[in-house]
Amino acid sequence: MSKQTKYVLDEEQIPKFWYNIQADLPVPLPPVLHPGTMQPVGPDDLSPLFPMSLIQQEVSTEREIEIPEPVRDVFRLWRPAPLYRAHGLEKALDTPAKIFYKYEGVSPAGSHKPNSAIPQAFYNKEAGVKRLTTETGAGQWGTSLAFAGSLYGLDVEIFQVRVSYDQKPYRRAVMETYGARCIASPSNETEYGRKVLAENPNHTGSLGIAISEAVEIAAQRDDTKYALGSVLNHVLLHQTIIGQEAMLQMEMADAYPDVVLSCTGGGSNFAGIAFPFMGQALRGGPKPRIVAVEPTACPSLTRGKYAYDFGDTGHMTPITKMHTLGSTFTPPGFHAGGLRYHGMAPLVSHVKELGLMEAVAYGQRECFEAGVLFARHEGIVPAPESNHAIKGAIEEALRCKREGKAETILFCLSGHGHFDMAAYTRYFEGDLQNEVYAEEAMAEAMAHLPEVPENV
Ligand SMILES: Cc1ncc(COP(=O)(O)O)c(C=O)c1O
Repeated sequence: MSKQTKYVLDEEQIPKFWYNIQADLPVPLPPVLHPGTMQPVGPDDLSPLFPMSLIQQEVSTEREIEIPEPVRDVFRLWRPAPLYRAHGLEKALDTPAKIFYKYEGVSPAGSHKPNSAIPQAFYNKEAGVKRLTTETGAGQWGTSLAFAGSLYGLDVEIFQVRVSYDQKPYRRAVMETYGARCIASPSNETEYGRKVLAENPNHTGSLGIAISEAVEIAAQRDDTKYALGSVLNHVLLHQTIIGQEAMLQMEMADAYPDVVLSCTGGGSNFAGIAFPFMGQALRGGPKPRIVAVEPTACPSLTRGKYAYDFGDTGHMTPITKMHTLGSTFTPPGFHAGGLRYHGMAPLVSHVKELGLMEAVAYGQRECFEAGVLFARHEGIVPAPESNHAIKGAIEEALRCKREGKAETILFCLSGHGHFDMAAYTRYFEGDLQNEVYAEEAMAEAMAHLPEVPENV
């Protein structure tokens, strides 16, 4: 039996196109609504925040969208990312399953996030933009945009969720090394931040609040635009290079997945690995099970409602149909900051509603346990977000063992955890709770869903 562990592609095999699942959807996405008029938005409504090339990608139904050559040249710094066969983990679990993982932690930021930060900075630079604002939860997206901004000579301002700002001072130092400015959110720099702080000066922040602050600043100046690290169609599109590369690498391994898994915060690395496989299935190819893994503390796909809602807490963004826990929901300060978002990408929510995927939720303690097992047998210390994908893959491998099935499991290891060691220390001290989102808090946040006219 082959013991090949690493499947490596040549730089020339970096995909030349992003894959757009909107071309293959059996039912189109519901429209995005304007928060003022409650009518579908047009490109002009979005132009204060995004350059037109990204807005066009947002609404495109073309199957393949070309990756600009200069963007592919930057990708050469770390792409193609390796695919590993998890021989060590398989042995530790004593499973007949074959486990593969696509490792995105080899990027300069340590995760999949530069896959979208680089093209977003590229298109903004092309459009003459001087400054980008954004939010960051885990610090991974902020680091990625800071890195991209440094390459393209753009000023970058990052609203970092307060709990992450406090837990991860070295993430901030990396963002500053790339020349970005980092602000703890909620902050005194925006009207919305001041309002939140007036109500609760010790607010731990949330991605929804940080998005409102970044959008508020971007909307004020013509030379400034906003960049989002997940959720939007164009961000998910940019991440599809993960799955496209993984398909070639699985071919090298003479294997095809029975199950594809990833963790979901806003849905971008999940879509990145899953959509190319889902698209192939929609076009009549093999149909692997596709599974999203989320935290029990922020369970938008497994316990949220599929409804129109705001993307931010201050209600400045357009309204999209998605799985949501309510835009006013502040998740507990658990240690996977990148998964603390109240909603889910409209595209991921839509394919979940169409029955094209499944979702499961796990507590953070069991996810850290899975991550530590992984580190001890595969060597990589995973990001707390990625631990959710590992937990999901381990559960599938143990099911295969119980059922005596030699299935092939593929998951996305979205990032490394080198800046998350405080969280690991707390886990080893027995200090981490399995946070669960309480029914009452959920009902309270759901009471604030916007009313949308029946005809949309
Ligand atoms: C390492 C890592 N994985 C996953 C996520 C979740 O984001 P998404 O669902 O967009 O992939 C984040 C977000 O910050 C992250 O940093």
